[in-house]
Amino acid sequence: MNTPKHQHILITGAATGIGAAAARRFVDEGWYVTMVDINDTVGAALAAELGPRAHYVHGDVCSAADMESAVAAAEAQHGPLTSVFANAGIHRHNTLLDISEEEFDRIVRTNIYGTFHTLRAAVPAIIASGGGTVVITASDQSTVGKHRSFAYGLTKGALGQMTKSLSLDLLPQGVRVNAICPGTIRTPMVDAIFERIAANGDATVDELWKSEAAEYACGRVGEPAEVAALVYFLASDASSFCSGGLYLIDGGLSAGK
Ligand code: NAI
Repeated sequence: MNTPKHQHILITGAATGIGAAAARRFVDEGWYVTMVDINDTVGAALAAELGPRAHYVHGDVCSAADMESAVAAAEAQHGPLTSVFANAGIHRHNTLLDISEEEFDRIVRTNIYGTFHTLRAAVPAIIASGGGTVVITASDQSTVGKHRSFAYGLTKGALGQMTKSLSLDLLPQGVRVNAICPGTIRTPMVDAIFERIAANGDATVDELWKSEAAEYACGRVGEPAEVAALVYFLASDASSFCSGGLYLIDGGLSAGK
């Protein structure tokens, strides 16, 4: 009888939304999961619910030191790291003309530096474990522009390019690197965007979700578990010939109108 392969993934932004759905999926598949977030109450409660294969660690992706500590804590708890899902990110609506330098800095720090710190800490551990996989949460905005999404779009474009150059550098060391590019997914991040718009009084959050769904030919937005299925495919051996790819999961939105 074959011994099951040791599989251990570190997930950032694992407390809610896509990261939480991914944590659930990987535990269901028998992997060890280290969940990293700044939302400690929600993250720790989810890890407790998922059982002994899940472990929560506080970590701000904006801090290189936090991410080094998170990887050390991950390996102390669950042994060698074989995969990382660099997923934490934030969104704000803005244009070149109305964004403050502080807001620009915060989005770049979280989305680009956050991914950089996560991968700088995790990838050497994955190489030391004998190779594995990296999955990065990019966006449909890695390749398509959206209104009032100036800073977010540029960070997600950068992550698309990061995926390609990293794939070239890391494949010889046995590490495959891919990115997911979701369209609108029903998560707290989008709830918060709609709450900020609804505060102007023009529409309710519910109306905004409905009009977002109407943009999609399939008549709905995506669910976090649907994205988690793609993340699992890209992190697992099922995707053994995939690297350097930006995988669209957008319900057909960017196919055109
Ligand atoms: P979410 O807000 O539910 O999840 C993001 C998680 O990241 C939260 O748990 C939050 O606490 C955590 N986080 C934020 N800043 C952090 C930091 N500095 N350090 C550690 N953790 C931090 O939102 P969602 O939608 O699940 O977002 C996950 C990723 O998916 C993000 O990178 C987002 O840009 C991306 N994405 C989301 C889409 C959507 O429509 N929901 C579409 C395309 C991409």
